[in-house]
Amino acid sequence: MTVDPTATNVTGVVIKSSQNRLLIKNGKVVNEDGMEDTDVYIEDGIIKQVGRNLIIPGGTRTIDATGKLVMPGGIDPHTHFELEMMGAKTADDFYKGTRAAVAGGTTTVIDFVLPQKGQSLLDAYANWRQKADGKVCCDYGLHVGVTWWSPSVKKEMQQLVSEQYGVNSFKMFMAYKDAWMLDDYDLYCAFEACAELRALPQVHAENGNIIARNTEKLLAAGVTAPVGHQLSRDEEVEAEAVNRACVIANQANTPLYIVHMMSKSAVQALRAARRKQKQPVYGETLAATVGTDGSHYRNACFRHAAAHVLSPPLRPDPSTPEAIVEALANDDLQLIGSDNCTFREQDKQLGKDNFSKIPNGVNGVEDRMAILWQKAVNTGIMDPCRFVAVTSSNAAKVFNLWPQKGRIAVNSDADVVVWDPRLERTITAAAHRQAVDFNIFEGQHVVGSPQYVIVNGRVCLDDGDLRVAEGFGRFLKTPANCPYVFGEEKGSEDEAPVDHRPLETPNGTVRNGTPTSGLAELTIVNKQLEGMGVSSGCSTPTGRKMREPGQRNLQNSTFSISKEVEGLDTKTSVRVRNPPGGKSSGLW
Ligand code: URP
Ligand code: ZN
Ligand code: ZN
Repeated sequence: MTVDPTATNVTGVVIKSSQNRLLIKNGKVVNEDGMEDTDVYIEDGIIKQVGRNLIIPGGTRTIDATGKLVMPGGIDPHTHFELEMMGAKTADDFYKGTRAAVAGGTTTVIDFVLPQKGQSLLDAYANWRQKADGKVCCDYGLHVGVTWWSPSVKKEMQQLVSEQYGVNSFKMFMAYKDAWMLDDYDLYCAFEACAELRALPQVHAENGNIIARNTEKLLAAGVTAPVGHQLSRDEEVEAEAVNRACVIANQANTPLYIVHMMSKSAVQALRAARRKQKQPVYGETLAATVGTDGSHYRNACFRHAAAHVLSPPLRPDPSTPEAIVEALANDDLQLIGSDNCTFREQDKQLGKDNFSKIPNGVNGVEDRMAILWQKAVNTGIMDPCRFVAVTSSNAAKVFNLWPQKGRIAVNSDADVVVWDPRLERTITAAAHRQAVDFNIFEGQHVVGSPQYVIVNGRVCLDDGDLRVAEGFGRFLKTPANCPYVFGEEKGSEDEAPVDHRPLETPNGTVRNGTPTSGLAELTIVNKQLEGMGVSSGCSTPTGRKMREPGQRNLQNSTFSISKEVEGLDTKTSVRVRNPPGGKSSGLW
């Protein structure tokens, strides 16, 4: 969609032609593969020129980005707006949710269509489009949940992947027994369908049967408070499911994306699959995981504790947040989302006497970028290029939106954040833009936030003033067979693993400790920026691929059980082994 320069949008605001042309001058452009002091010229929603001494038409608005970073708008790969779940409806709808996203520097979200068991996937998709299309303030895409299995589901997946619908990823649940959970057989079938369609399967990795049994035992023992949520599903319950999902994906010969990874054990299981098995599996963590921790479940106030309930839960191990940031920095994890799924206090009260009835979900769409900047860049764990990679570019690559999204380059969409690394603020529910009445990052002081946010060429955060337009966002069709996931990209197969820490690591006391003031944080960021030179200064090499070195290229892979069976010569294919007891059982 191009923006009509004189069009009246749905809120009745006339978009003037001068707003259609924009020059961002004197900033430091940060992409996932390098940084450069350069200017960016935008026209009709597209980046038209990047460079110095650009020739610009008269009447163009100029934003002076001196001392600021100019980054691709964030892509939040995981939101739930207007979702009905566990007897409640999320507070953030597609308007409030995307408005909050933009305020925080995110210019694209990917939400989840979640059909009820037995519901047509196409009907659910149509319902989501209807809810979202007139309301979104920024572009959005859709993943679709496969919450039950049948031949008709498979057929609908096929349709959803077509050009008409534009879906390239499906989420399967290994938890929420009796609601959305699939057993391993159905999971395997769903993964196979994804492999056939060259769509990316995603999993919610937790062992739903163990959780169900533990919940029964805890309730029987009188544990009804929110801490029971955490106790019913500890780290190994998540790690086991991560491992099982990787095994099933390997059997189905498909890449895999694991959503909301919340624990060190789960990351270890993913790392094992990525490094040892060379599987193309990707891990997403959440702003909640790096920005807060599981101690809140023990808060005596039900409202406070219940507000932190999400699945998988925040972990009691206090070293988790930093370990997860490290995993994002060193590419054990590839993306950070929000899983924004906000329920008001009155809805969380549904679980007042039974933790298993607390609607699951927390905020994060607004604060995701600032929280990660604070915990990762200001602490010296991650450089700004890797920050761009995990908050934007990798999502664009994995979900086949690259380089339209996730990059500051000529012909990319003009989704741009002018990031002020000096801007200080304290996160509070009172000041946030989300509709929910609680913020899990309440009271946290962050240094670094967006000053301007440009969505498809429109200045939607203007020097701190939020001026979104309801319905301005577009639906993004995401084509299947993504080259970054299924492996068609050019380049060397044996690239060395990359350390994404800043080239110039600040002194050990800061790196291992918590900076005490905004000044300390700024010193670290400034050192990183100075140390990186003008271009390609990040520790992330240019053209880094999404697959690990030596990972199987599924585009070229010939492995499949049916092919293996076909390929066996008759003599060996009918060979049977007599199992103990003597009865032959055909192929084994
Ligand atoms: O607790 C969570 N994560 N709520 C949203 C639904 C999901 O599982 O993603
Ligand atoms: Zn989930
Ligand atoms: Zn979710």
